[in-house]
Amino acid sequence: MVLEEQIHAADRGNTIAPDTISVEAITARERLKSRMLRAWILAGLFFMALPGTLLGFSNLLAISTHHGLGALSPAWIQGHAHAQVYGWIGSFVLGIGFYSQPSHGKSVLRVPLSCFILWVTGVATRWYANIYSWHWQVLVPLSATFELIAILLFVSAASGHKLPESVRGTGAKPKREPMELWMVSVLISTAGLAALVLFNFVECLRLAATAVSPARPHGLDQRYLVLLGWGFLAPVVWGFSARWLPAFLGMAKPRQRPFALALILDLCGVLAGVAGWVMGAAVLLVLSAGTVTFALRIFELPIGKAKTQGVHPSFPFFARIPYLWLVIAAGMGVWAAFADHQGGIWGGSRHALTVGFAASMVFAIGPRILPHFGGIYRVFSTRLMFACLLLLQTGCFLRVTSEPLAYEGLASFAWKVLPVSGMLELGGVLLFAANMVLTFAFGQSAFAADRPVEAAAAA
Ligand code: HEM
Repeated sequence: MVLEEQIHAADRGNTIAPDTISVEAITARERLKSRMLRAWILAGLFFMALPGTLLGFSNLLAISTHHGLGALSPAWIQGHAHAQVYGWIGSFVLGIGFYSQPSHGKSVLRVPLSCFILWVTGVATRWYANIYSWHWQVLVPLSATFELIAILLFVSAASGHKLPESVRGTGAKPKREPMELWMVSVLISTAGLAALVLFNFVECLRLAATAVSPARPHGLDQRYLVLLGWGFLAPVVWGFSARWLPAFLGMAKPRQRPFALALILDLCGVLAGVAGWVMGAAVLLVLSAGTVTFALRIFELPIGKAKTQGVHPSFPFFARIPYLWLVIAAGMGVWAAFADHQGGIWGGSRHALTVGFAASMVFAIGPRILPHFGGIYRVFSTRLMFACLLLLQTGCFLRVTSEPLAYEGLASFAWKVLPVSGMLELGGVLLFAANMVLTFAFGQSAFAADRPVEAAAAA
């Protein structure tokens, strides 16, 4: 059977005896998956750079000019957040999720492609409706419906794959191996994302039927943000940290019980936050952040050498710093729960979590894994990688320190620092996007057959 036919047959769900699938067919399938992942990554980079960060930067300029949040439409702030969290991080997570699933049956192309089209259209539509308010009563629920269907497709594709099983002894019933904790953390984050999308769907229907703007009211938005930050972003990064950091940084394996405890504290914190118990949630989440940092041994001496081939030598430093931001974010959450008046401490806490923790981790680990998953040998430039990490860290430091000072009226010079922080972060984001685009455009293919010189040498 010809290669393309084999793949299309598999796409249609037809059974092909394993021995009739050639090595070429498997390579072609892997290449298809890599291309699909590249599409997710490029879409994510687009949402991160333009609808996400550029809008965030322009919001920050408006806030700094008017010395407060009052002059800015909440729909713009929420449009920025939606592009970053759904458009960027969500696209990366869905792309890596589909890439990691075993490739057989319908999941090779049809389901990931449908999910991709629905997700990207949904996120773009939401951004447009939030910013321009054009027919938002129709577009906002429509976008939420697309996003909900996309997530349901993802969850059903993921649940169709069997968990690892082993048979002990002859004739024994298959025994299910306990799931590794990193997987549990990733599953919790998937459930968190599904809950977030469902929350968003219900709220969008309500807004379209009863409200005068596509923005969630403040009180409800605060609850939604707890689910977004601690129900989705935090556990997804913890899961992938537990999976990859020990190998990349030469660290011992995570401590199991503290890791499980951190997940339980996080779940309780999210439930408390969504129920509106702000102080209880803040305390539970700070305990969870400290416990997970201890469990992952982030600030302990490594037991082996870090793997820095193909990335900048500063990689081990920048892969640890996000956990400092995690603890700062959670600590500021407690401060905000007791003392915030103008949204400055909450804003600083949220920024420490979204930019300091989540975005910094993606910028540190992304150049190590994304080129490889996308079928490219290594990142285009390690210097660009270093420059973007440095810019993001400096911008984040200035933003998190000056936001409470400015918004809460503690020091007026901080209003002048905020635009500088935004400019540095924007610079970091654009360099990251450029480095990734250049990697996929000009990087050396990871498939040996695409590298004529090496292929010839190997032959
Ligand atoms: C890198 C440059 C960024 C800039 C300049 C920026 C700017 C802003 C601004 C001005 C706000 C308005 C409220 C406030 O001051 O706290 C905001 C809110 C927010 N941002 Fe960002 N941001 C950036 C990156 C990110 C990233 C990477 C994420 C997520 C991964 C993110 C998620 C959010 C969220 C969730 C909110 C709260 C939205 C709400 O109140 O509903 N931001 N951002």
